[in-house]
Amino acid sequence: MRKASIPILNDGLKIYVAGHAGLVGSALARRFSGLKEVHLVTAARTEVDLTDPAQVERFLNRERPDAVILAAGKVGGIRANASAPAQFIRENLVIEANLIHGSWNAGVKRLLNFGSGCMYPKACPQPMKPEHLMTGPMEPTSEPYSIAKLAGMVLCSSYNRQYGTRYTTLIPCTVYGPGDSFDPQDSHVLPALLRKFHEAKESGACEVTLWGSGQARREFLYADDLAEACERVLRSDEPSGDPINIGRGESISIQGLAQKVGQVVGFRGEVRWDGSYPDGAPEKRLDSDPIRRMGWSPRTDLLSGLEQTYRWYLQNCNSAVRAELVEARRSHPSTDSG
Ligand SMILES: NC(=O)c1ccc[n+]([C@@H]2O[C@H](COP(=O)([O-])OP(=O)(O)OC[C@H]3O[C@@H](n4cnc5c(N)ncnc54)[C@H](OP(=O)(O)O)[C@@H]3O)[C@@H](O)[C@H]2O)c1
Repeated sequence: MRKASIPILNDGLKIYVAGHAGLVGSALARRFSGLKEVHLVTAARTEVDLTDPAQVERFLNRERPDAVILAAGKVGGIRANASAPAQFIRENLVIEANLIHGSWNAGVKRLLNFGSGCMYPKACPQPMKPEHLMTGPMEPTSEPYSIAKLAGMVLCSSYNRQYGTRYTTLIPCTVYGPGDSFDPQDSHVLPALLRKFHEAKESGACEVTLWGSGQARREFLYADDLAEACERVLRSDEPSGDPINIGRGESISIQGLAQKVGQVVGFRGEVRWDGSYPDGAPEKRLDSDPIRRMGWSPRTDLLSGLEQTYRWYLQNCNSAVRAELVEARRSHPSTDSG
């Protein structure tokens, strides 16, 4: 029987989504703003800086949400992780500590926290299950970020143990969709490919070169499908607060992904693979059976997710990207290939 003190979505909830302007947060805001049972609360970074404990505490004590979704943090691809490890560990640790402690302090019983697939050991058996967490060394490049994510998960379970809260860590595979970062320094592989193919098409290039062999297999989930999984978890009184993986259940090789991205963008040139760059782990795929048993399954196949993401990119980033390219050509005229 459900403990009366742990609220579920069916009863109607005031939900604070932290990081509502980001990739995951904006999908959550889209989903929850359409539900009559939900009173959605958000705050821009200029209103509440989540690295400031006093601001977080003041905001949560004023709003007193029933549930908090922690979709804020410092997130980025390999290059961003490699160039700013201190920021990745510190900002994520501080945001998690402020929001988890602040939520408990404001009487919030239910919280969803986001982990990440990179929390799993580098040489993890496939598919990856929560019992594999902390059983081996992680990918060194993203270790500071991954350690912060593990700490967030342990913070949640510790508050559950000591204070009887239900703070659940969801571990999604790589997420993509509208609102993703297409910054060449910061982005994950999928938006980076979309942008690279798009720019190659625009410039009339007849080939693109991609890093690695293209053989590594990864799992990608459309952000709105993740938001639906979050709703499913909040409607349920089953989960104990243990971590829950959220993935499509199938991986695709980077070569296969590149082929689909090329198809969506309409790039007809050749793709070359530079094998001097490392591939990373041969495969990363989550065991998502537990969330499927809760009645969730992803609706968006990769091709239509890519189409929607590319449409968003064209509407929202293309002019900014053009301006960046013009600026880069102005400052480095020798790199202008015409
Ligand atoms: N993207 C993925 O593939 C993926 C995969 C697995 C797990 N996750 C997890 O999902 C969560 C959300 O990721 P995402 O991809 O949606 O990231 P994102 O697009 O970069 O969004 C992060 C959000 O956090 C906000 N934020 C960061 N620092 C803040 C601060 N000090 N004060 C207030 N707001 C702050 C950002 O605000 P601004 O808009 O003002 O910058 C942004 O809205 C993260 O915990 C991440 O680890 C993501």
